[in-house]
Amino acid sequence: MPQTDAVIIGSGIAALSAAYQLQSSRKVTILTKSTKYESNSMLAQGGIAAAVDKYDSWQGHYEDTMTAGSYHNDAFAAELLVKEGAKEVLGLIRNGFQFDHDSNGKLLLGQEGAHRFSRILHAGGDATGKAVIHFLLSQLNENTEIIEDEMALDLIICDGICKGVFTRNAQGDIQQYFAGHTILATGGCGSLYKHTSNSQVTTGDGLAMAFRAGAVLTDMEFTQFHPTMLLVNGECVGLISEAVRGEGAFLQNESGIRFMEGIHAFGDLAPRDIVARTIFSQMKKGHRVFLNISSIPAFESRFPTISALCKKHGVNLNEGLIPVAPGMHFLMGGIKTDIDGKTSVSRLYAVGEAACTGVHGANRLASNSLLEGLVFGSRLGMHILNSPQHAFRESESVKIRNSRKQAVIFPSKEEIKWMMTNFAAIERSEEGLFIAKCWFEKFLLPISFWDINVNNFTNKEYEKINMLTAGWLIVASALRRTESRGGHFRTDYPYKEDRLWLKKQILLSKYDTG
Ligand code: SIN
Repeated sequence: MPQTDAVIIGSGIAALSAAYQLQSSRKVTILTKSTKYESNSMLAQGGIAAAVDKYDSWQGHYEDTMTAGSYHNDAFAAELLVKEGAKEVLGLIRNGFQFDHDSNGKLLLGQEGAHRFSRILHAGGDATGKAVIHFLLSQLNENTEIIEDEMALDLIICDGICKGVFTRNAQGDIQQYFAGHTILATGGCGSLYKHTSNSQVTTGDGLAMAFRAGAVLTDMEFTQFHPTMLLVNGECVGLISEAVRGEGAFLQNESGIRFMEGIHAFGDLAPRDIVARTIFSQMKKGHRVFLNISSIPAFESRFPTISALCKKHGVNLNEGLIPVAPGMHFLMGGIKTDIDGKTSVSRLYAVGEAACTGVHGANRLASNSLLEGLVFGSRLGMHILNSPQHAFRESESVKIRNSRKQAVIFPSKEEIKWMMTNFAAIERSEEGLFIAKCWFEKFLLPISFWDINVNNFTNKEYEKINMLTAGWLIVASALRRTESRGGHFRTDYPYKEDRLWLKKQILLSKYDTG
């Protein structure tokens, strides 16, 4: 029976930051259903936002975070993010991480949407996430073990306390990992949508596991669509970083009209929710949308990853126009936690995109996600280091129920994506959300999705159950928020409301689904 001090599910920046702290005196097991190199963090291009320039201030970064988040943010968490963020970034540099700098050794700081200051540190031009993940992996010691190709299925909950996780290993055997502390760092649920910048492994596993464990989730209606994904033959095939607009690129349609003019004071660098909706409305009118990069000198050396992506898909950069469309990028909501990663279930923690501290409000500010992983991952690690250790007793092992496999009909992943893309994406309405909710329930209710048996389903089926559960949580929340705010836009309630209850977070758990 594997036992460890802390089991971390997921291997992105938040997971590795927590492990880095914990391994000083605890045994850590990181579980990933694919490989340690497969995560949204690995795909992050633009960089890490931090007020490290002498003319910048944490107050400026804080104000931009709150404004982008439509002031739905938890103000305390946001202040902590920007203050501790700058320290974390300087700590990375002290430990030997190389951000891009000029020939005089001065850090190169980029600009992105809704920032009023150039404060984005980047590495490898546009491969920041990949560089940080490789660096953090190199910092792990013998106290941290990474197990790949092993899918976490469900949390082990005894008397309301999380004692670890059930997994299925590469050989197909169900395992029980017992841990003093269990951490969900599984990222978001981008692959619920047809167009996404996310890795296809982001099927909402942590969100669904937490729901089944009885944890509270919140802000699930707030989904962020990145305005500029590379669009080729009607498919989004990768991200075109907002840093490209930060370097001077602008949006236009096929007639050359710069449609962001007059929409927002920051023009092409308006907050993401606004830019994504404006592009979406252009596309609904039948326009094609492009990023005009012709004013950026040495584009290929500043953006090598994006250049390679464009070339791979036959986009001629010399023509200066990259075809783009919005795609699901980030879930602001998630498993409700405090600033130390504690969820509503004892000894269960969540961190990174899977978690919701409330730091991002209704719309995340660009390049605050890697920062979130660094800050809240470290905080969580430190919190557990200061918590009592829990020894495992053999009597705690759980007998796995061996019920007969039910004959269940599941939709295809494409059908789930279709439902979310048509009814719960950039624009929503009561009618569409209701159709989607009923459709999800048609599959979820017959299997009692709040309490399923690990022996009953294959990994592929688990992924679908998790996608259906995450989708259901998004539409249930979106139905309840009868206003528009940040990443949640209701065509039937197009304005932000000032009524007090709408300013609050919508909470969901299996004990209270509203
Ligand atoms: C980007 O590079 O545009 C994405 C970075 C982020 O989501 O913060």
